[in-house]
Amino acid sequence: LRTAAVIPAAGRGVRLGPGAPKALRALGGIPMLVHAVRAMAASRAVSLVVVVAPPDGATEVRHLLDEHPLSDRTDLLVVPGGETRQDSVRRGLAALPDGIDAVLVHDAARPLVPVDTVDAVIAAVRAGAPAVVPALPLADTVKQVEPQPQGTPEPVVGTPERALLRAVQTPQGFDRETLLKAHDTVVEGEGATDDAGLVERLGQPVVVVPGHEEAFKVTRPLDLVLAEAVLARRRA
Ligand code: C5P
Repeated sequence: LRTAAVIPAAGRGVRLGPGAPKALRALGGIPMLVHAVRAMAASRAVSLVVVVAPPDGATEVRHLLDEHPLSDRTDLLVVPGGETRQDSVRRGLAALPDGIDAVLVHDAARPLVPVDTVDAVIAAVRAGAPAVVPALPLADTVKQVEPQPQGTPEPVVGTPERALLRAVQTPQGFDRETLLKAHDTVVEGEGATDDAGLVERLGQPVVVVPGHEEAFKVTRPLDLVLAEAVLARRRA
């Protein structure tokens, strides 16, 4: 099976504060996106990485990635993204050449995922699972609420049993046909916040493998502090 990784990196990252698109912010002096591309290319199973750039930034991203070349083993494509994450992933999938059987979808915002986690996801897909997600148990208890206008306290309507919940990370891994069908079938705006969610809507099985705490998503300013610390520890 030949495996490609699609990296949606077209988000603006408003929750991180003002500045460049999130994927282009520096981490240890190197753009977050370069870390994410390297994390995928670190797996010997990944022969192609498709980066989905901001719609008006594909040329800039291509130049940036050319400054940080990968080994000869891994090919790289850059395509322009879309309005939503789902749209961006769809554009990345459309760029896949024939001969790719398995696809990883990995957020540029998870730059530090270890290669062992990537390999575990790929192994589960190659063992026959149509969709695989890395995930971790939750530290926090989670409440479901009835949303209210801002300033009004929200009534709690339920507390799902924490031991049954998992916080899902990326890369998520898929049989190529399954993921294409999911993206072709599920319409935008139906509320799936990840790719496996689209596969679930098809009624196809999705399985969980252990995630890793270093695969956390860089979303808010505090996450950048943590990411810098993880990187410093690795380099020490
Ligand atoms: O916003 P969020 O953190 O959920 O974004 C997850 C990933 O999806 C990020 O890597 C972001 O760059 C990407 N994304 C995208 N196209 C969009 C919105 C988000 O590729 N229109």
